[in-house]
Amino acid sequence: MPEPDEFVVTPYEVRGRIDYVRLRELFGTQELTAELLAKLHHLTGGDLHPLLTRGIYYSHRDLAPILDGFANGKPFFLYSGRGPSGPLHTSHLVPFDLCQWLQRRLGVPMYIQITDDEKYWARSGLTREETASWGLENLYDILALGFDPKRTHVFFDSRSIAALYPLAIRVARKIPYSTVKAVFGFEPSTNIGLVFYTALQSVPCFWPSWAEGHAVPCLIPCGIDQDPHFRVTRDIAEGLGYPKPSLVHSQMVTGLLGDAAMSTSGDRPDNALFLNDPPETVERKVRNAFTGGRATVEEQRRLGATPEVCAIWALWRTRFAESEDKFQEVTAGCRSGALLCGECKGQLLERVHKFYRYHNEARERVKSWAESTIVTAAPKPV
Ligand code: TRP
Repeated sequence: MPEPDEFVVTPYEVRGRIDYVRLRELFGTQELTAELLAKLHHLTGGDLHPLLTRGIYYSHRDLAPILDGFANGKPFFLYSGRGPSGPLHTSHLVPFDLCQWLQRRLGVPMYIQITDDEKYWARSGLTREETASWGLENLYDILALGFDPKRTHVFFDSRSIAALYPLAIRVARKIPYSTVKAVFGFEPSTNIGLVFYTALQSVPCFWPSWAEGHAVPCLIPCGIDQDPHFRVTRDIAEGLGYPKPSLVHSQMVTGLLGDAAMSTSGDRPDNALFLNDPPETVERKVRNAFTGGRATVEEQRRLGATPEVCAIWALWRTRFAESEDKFQEVTAGCRSGALLCGECKGQLLERVHKFYRYHNEARERVKSWAESTIVTAAPKPV
């Protein structure tokens, strides 16, 4: 492959060192500019979410119209999802953190899709029972971030199919096989479940409009790897009489072993911090993580280190720096050589352990109402 394309980002594969600006160009998405962030700031009040100010969300499609619409009294809803192939790790929370924050600030509804079907079709090693049971476990973790039980609705694909299918029928008819083949790189051996699946991922974008009988705009916070699905959705939206969904895209979070994404496929469990890792495992993974540090302490003191390539810095950046001051302190200390990797990891671990304790409690509490969020019926006779 030629130089600039030496990375691959699709919903089914992330590989290589990603040039995010180039990726935005390749996908044809827009830059999340300071001006747009200011617009969002104006709407949400208070401080912007650190995932926005620290550049993790960096790209979008049609964010301005949805924000302007909201400012003029036209509500929108949020939509994101999770393919349950195992336990969640911390970087899986990135879309849901932003959704939860937006829901709290703006009072908007949230739709979560749990795609136990997709992961069964895409991951040959998992049984149906496994993807379904991970789906529920993952849902507890997502809801535990603080979603509002009254405004949060879940499409759990295998259980919500009666609610989704009437729209899926219409969506699927609009998508030619040549499109999914080109967009996802499917092979003749790809099972037909996956070929159909993208229709199901599109359905939640239109579902509230269908249910309410008028256009309700949709905003999707997601990893940029999911954009190809929604290019398909956006292409067919108007033909179905629904608004095109807007998107805001995040970068992938560097894996603990220094990979471009915190993915554990290919049997690399130490590349990520799973939310069900016990404290000793968390400790070991962080202590062994790839950093941007130098070979010796002396060199690091003299030359400083490189936060941008460091897996530990990526964790501070995405979740664990509790304030902008702390984040700047860690970043500057790393660069100057004042903060050594061992010390930095120790400080991070305190925060990680604290988050896990808090999260596990919140997770127990949501179990009493999680089931009630699952949508099982179509909104009207079809
Ligand atoms: N395909 C996604 C995954 O593999 C799951 C998903 C479903 C999703 N709907 C979504 C992700 C909407 C982002 C936005 O994890």
